[in-house]
Amino acid sequence: MITLSVNGRDHSVDADPATPLLYVLRDDLGLNAAKFGCGLGQCGSCMVLVDGAPVVSCVTPVAALEGRRIRTVEGLGTADDPGPVQRAFIEEQAAQCGYCIPGFMISAQALLERTAAPSDAEIRDALHPNLCRCGTHMRIFKAVRRAAQAMQTADAAGTGQEDAR
Ligand code: FES
Ligand code: FES
Repeated sequence: MITLSVNGRDHSVDADPATPLLYVLRDDLGLNAAKFGCGLGQCGSCMVLVDGAPVVSCVTPVAALEGRRIRTVEGLGTADDPGPVQRAFIEEQAAQCGYCIPGFMISAQALLERTAAPSDAEIRDALHPNLCRCGTHMRIFKAVRRAAQAMQTADAAGTGQEDAR
């Protein structure tokens, strides 16, 4: 048994230690936001946050994750109460097919948690590991900029979410 902390909850998982986290999230925990794209660590569609850093879950064995804080897009907000990154992606209509979007949201969340007011170059750099085959990069870029502004405004007003989700 391996215990994983995902979105603030502990889960005991009966899995081979070499199993990629992505499979456990989707098949055992029913968390389907992270997507299988390449399975090779090259597209970013499977990204999750591990201790605040974006990690490609398709090539990360669960054995490496005990005691680490895992967050997925499901932990960034809900359909009724989207988090600031999710809200910005909706408002900018950043998705075409949507397959890549959870990975982009994870990269954006990680960036904005470590850099409240990123430059355009820093946004581009943070999104570099993520691929979008539909070519919606400019809308995604605008969504991240919008999320940064919204989070700064919320912080200035003292209404930011303390745990930044
Ligand atoms: S599915 Fe993990 S990086 Fe492509
Ligand atoms: S919106 Fe289709 S792959 Fe990015």
